Amino acid sequence: MKSVVLKTEIPGPKSRELMARVHEHTPKSVGHGTPLGIASAQGATVTDLDGNTFLDFSGGIGTLNMGHCPPAVVKAIQEQAEEYMHLCFQVLAYPSYVDLCAKLNAITPGSHAKKTVLFNSGAEGTENAVKIARAYTGRSGIIVFDRAFHGRTMMCLGMTGQVKPYKVGFGPFPGELARIPYPYSYRSHGDAEEATFHALDQVFRCDLPPEKVACIIIEPILGEGGFVVPPPTFLPRLRKLCDQHGILLIADEVQTGFGRTGKLFCIEHWNVIPDLMVMAKSLGGGTPLSAVTGKAEIMDALVTGSIGGTYGGNPLACRAALAAIETLEKDGLVERANLLGERVRQHLKPLQERFPVIAEVRGLGAMIGIELADPETKEPAGALAAELISACLKKGLIMLKAGAGNNVIRTLMPLVMSEEQVDEAMEILAGCLEEVHQVVVS
Ligand SMILES: Cc1ncc(COP(=O)(O)O)c(C=O)c1O
Repeated sequence: MKSVVLKTEIPGPKSRELMARVHEHTPKSVGHGTPLGIASAQGATVTDLDGNTFLDFSGGIGTLNMGHCPPAVVKAIQEQAEEYMHLCFQVLAYPSYVDLCAKLNAITPGSHAKKTVLFNSGAEGTENAVKIARAYTGRSGIIVFDRAFHGRTMMCLGMTGQVKPYKVGFGPFPGELARIPYPYSYRSHGDAEEATFHALDQVFRCDLPPEKVACIIIEPILGEGGFVVPPPTFLPRLRKLCDQHGILLIADEVQTGFGRTGKLFCIEHWNVIPDLMVMAKSLGGGTPLSAVTGKAEIMDALVTGSIGGTYGGNPLACRAALAAIETLEKDGLVERANLLGERVRQHLKPLQERFPVIAEVRGLGAMIGIELADPETKEPAGALAAELISACLKKGLIMLKAGAGNNVIRTLMPLVMSEEQVDEAMEILAGCLEEVHQVVVS
């Protein structure tokens, strides 16, 4: 039985009506990936206000690895709501905050003593990781990567390596930042890894000597930047360099974490242990929650009261996260990411042979990027990607793009998706590619 059920044209009348109200009452600066208004969602599907059911390859931008409304998460939230909804951990402690921190201390890479602090969003997590690194090292310099995305606060925007649309009109940003190229083999002239270490050497000589650098923050696979996987030796080499200079290595696992790449955390693919790890998105199982986990001596080095927040680690979110992680473990979703990812690749292989505009299919586990580009010039095929996504939506498949050229289609489907649902989605994608390729490319 097919999952996609379309009863109206897309968008239907009720979605159109809602979007008209969206435009009337909310600023256009927020932007919308689809023109849909949603009534309900379950597992790997969402149903709109007009009764149309879609396969969801966006998963709330990677927030729903455990699916929409996982039963254990819903139950945990309901139970918690009847006990208490908010206390503020800095005022009154409660078990779920501590249980979650203990769990994250246990499951993040490295057997050393760790401590965890909770916040509300990925941006808050990355911003606080940098604050922790500065306070611990007594150094101010931060090294970041081009094409990186770390969130929308001022510090995070400074760290983010893409101007449009995130940074336009918002500067100046906090200083003491230096940016080096993310090793992106497809778009690098020459050896991508060598180019990055050469640039780092330049930064050390010209702008920020290593003894002034507090941290290097990196997404182990670029998320918004286009699902770019670094060369195999890159992260171990970066770890070694950080150790040589007493620089903290921060892994931003906001998008890559919780099974997406076929390991619980992406950085485990290279056996690298970061000093601090930032988690969010699927951590909360659909609730707003982020975490910074790090070496206990680092986390304990700050002045008491210097980090936290009113809502960070709210009881509803903590209970949801504990149930979400339990679901991930019990249902074997990390292994499932590999199975689903492999299935997607099998579908993409013949497509890549037929359509040279599919320049690269890359990624790990279920985090797969399909880069569309002119096969000769490598010019990003952003218009084609937009047409493809729009055509897929009309056929019942929700897809997202990424990359500086808006030309990478990315997979962020819930890991509870069935193999049949993957097949259904990939058939829609193939049909739509055929259709839009003829119009846009020929
Ligand atoms: C790698 C990464 N870091 C940080 C963030 C910011 O998270 P949030 O939108 O929850 O602030 C994102 C969001 O997409 C992300 O992908």
